[in-house]
Amino acid sequence: MTQTPFKQFLFGGDYNPEQWPKEIWAEDMQILTDVHMNEATINVFSWAQLQPSEETYDFSTLDAIVETLTRANFDIVLATSTAALPAWLVTRYPEVTRTDYEGRRARFGGRHNACPSSPIFRFYGAKLAGKLAERYGHLKNVVCWHISNEYGGYCYCDNCAAAFRVWLRQKYGTLDALNNAWYTHFWSHTFYDWSEIVPPNALSDGINHDHNVVLSGMGIDWRRFQSEALLQNLKDEKAAIRQYDPDTPITTNMMGTFKDLDYFQWAKELDIVSWDSYPAYNTPHSEVAMRHDLMRGLKGGQPFMLMEQTPSQQNWQAYNATKRPGQMRALSFQAIAHGADTIQYFQLRQGRGGTEKFHSAVISHADHDETRIIRETRALGSELAKVGPQLMNGRIQAKVGLIFDWDNYWSLEYSSGPSVSLTYVDQIKRYYAAFYRQNTAVDMIPTDLSADQLARYDVIAAPVLIMVKPGVSEAIHQYVKNGGVFITTCMSGINDEHDNVIMGGYPGPFRDLCGLWAEEIDALPPHTAVPVQFGDTKTGGSIVANVSHLEGAETIAAYGGADYYANTPAVTVNTYGTGQAYYVGTVLDTAGMDVLVDRLIQDEHLDHFTTPTDVELTTRHYPDYALHFLINNGNQAETVDTSRFAGMPTLIGDGPVQATTELAPYGLIVIQETK
Ligand code: GLA
Ligand code: ZN
Repeated sequence: MTQTPFKQFLFGGDYNPEQWPKEIWAEDMQILTDVHMNEATINVFSWAQLQPSEETYDFSTLDAIVETLTRANFDIVLATSTAALPAWLVTRYPEVTRTDYEGRRARFGGRHNACPSSPIFRFYGAKLAGKLAERYGHLKNVVCWHISNEYGGYCYCDNCAAAFRVWLRQKYGTLDALNNAWYTHFWSHTFYDWSEIVPPNALSDGINHDHNVVLSGMGIDWRRFQSEALLQNLKDEKAAIRQYDPDTPITTNMMGTFKDLDYFQWAKELDIVSWDSYPAYNTPHSEVAMRHDLMRGLKGGQPFMLMEQTPSQQNWQAYNATKRPGQMRALSFQAIAHGADTIQYFQLRQGRGGTEKFHSAVISHADHDETRIIRETRALGSELAKVGPQLMNGRIQAKVGLIFDWDNYWSLEYSSGPSVSLTYVDQIKRYYAAFYRQNTAVDMIPTDLSADQLARYDVIAAPVLIMVKPGVSEAIHQYVKNGGVFITTCMSGINDEHDNVIMGGYPGPFRDLCGLWAEEIDALPPHTAVPVQFGDTKTGGSIVANVSHLEGAETIAAYGGADYYANTPAVTVNTYGTGQAYYVGTVLDTAGMDVLVDRLIQDEHLDHFTTPTDVELTTRHYPDYALHFLINNGNQAETVDTSRFAGMPTLIGDGPVQATTELAPYGLIVIQETK
């Protein structure tokens, strides 16, 4: 079991003192110490200051910042500053900027703006990281490297095109193999020379504003390549750091279900996962929880860093609501409950200028220390100072595994038809949310687990698993044969790893496992539903409806209505070996999902717990105890039946648990159960 690399529970965040006069720094240290902060993430966007020209470096300001923090006893998460290019570099070497989907080469500006394939960018980015490591890597309070920032976005320039061709040659060896994989006889796309291949964008194979492409196999390879090219940038910097600093953990901040990067691949290069959580005022609690669980899943359940959250408002959303009193604490504990071992903010002091000046901060424009944010930060800081060490290193013991896979994300969303409403994260969310409503723990897992690794779960759900990569179907067959329960849905088992259809009827390799085949996939018009009678409950299906034929499966819910597929199977279950495979042929509504999950909970004896809608219960396990986080994520007071925990002590709360617990709006308790 890998432990969190930090000696203390880090409580801090992004701190950009290079933006304001030095005289203010002492006041910052005083306020931040007073709110119990112990960490600052610095140097995130300072390249232009660190390197004023190609020939010169200037670390004087950063030296002073490091010294100020060190004197105030702060741990430092040190960023490498490579996420925004300095103007001189762009002016001298225009190749370092990106070319966009429309084919326009960017000039200077913005951030997250480097072409990943530019040799000049790669050279200077890694060089800067190396210089930072040489200068600061030995410091005891530099506890983590933060490479670049929120990697993402693609580049369609000629350097990327050339690198893509090299990548393709390595992958396919011959043009025949590539033509075959990409199905290039479609619309006369056959390639006779590697140089004919260009990145798929609006000037080439792109067919609409969703960045869809004519040859989806090419589109998916392009995404794989760009994700790897950006990852190579991270590896370049990592190698440069490791020349001087062999052991300080390395991370980069991720973004939940962000589409561009295959985070399971990325996590392999990181010592610890970190991510930035920015729910909007109306983001469902289940979605926030799912993103945490996905980030925890990237390294097989190891704790992660909550690298950024806002103390109150964002600035970049359409409607940047303030966090309600208590909400920041509730969101922080929700993150901890799902596996976070740090609580960090963007940002510690609010800037005076630039596009983020209305983004909230611990220290606001009011510039004094008794704001609501300060009071709430101080209260949380004092709690974390007390119980932080007991919160760290807990594991979630989920019996449900939910597959999330970037190739599938891309494949489903490249799919032209049957319905534009079928989007990947939405479909995964429906399954996650149904378990979340029962407070049943879920692990988000990749597709490449072996049957043995899958065997730790009682239930594996793989909604819209449209692309079945080599080995996946075999592992799932074995898992079910040995007694596992597998659930999959419409739009599963359709394509191979090149995004070409697997012949022989949907769901292809899962046909025997599920004991049925789907002949047609109807797309339903928006805001319509087909009735689905599920046990005693009238539920509905939307977006798509499979028209299926049984081959051994049992129908547990059939379509109603008067359409030609009325009375045919909507939801089925098939016995395979000693396990079972469920197939859900439509997008079930909430009532339908609840019936399905209730059935699984009963049959598989899954742990669950009843709470009001806005309240969640999540459990982290430690060698000698378990912590049950009971959190009211809503702004109404709630009463929870806690008789199951009655008499147990609370780590946070007013004494032992009673038979019922009153939770204030955004209130919470943490129950400590001794093992
Ligand atoms: C992201 C970035 C930060 C900052 C915040 C604002 O997470 O990493 O630099 O821009 O958003 O919410
Ligand atoms: Zn490029």
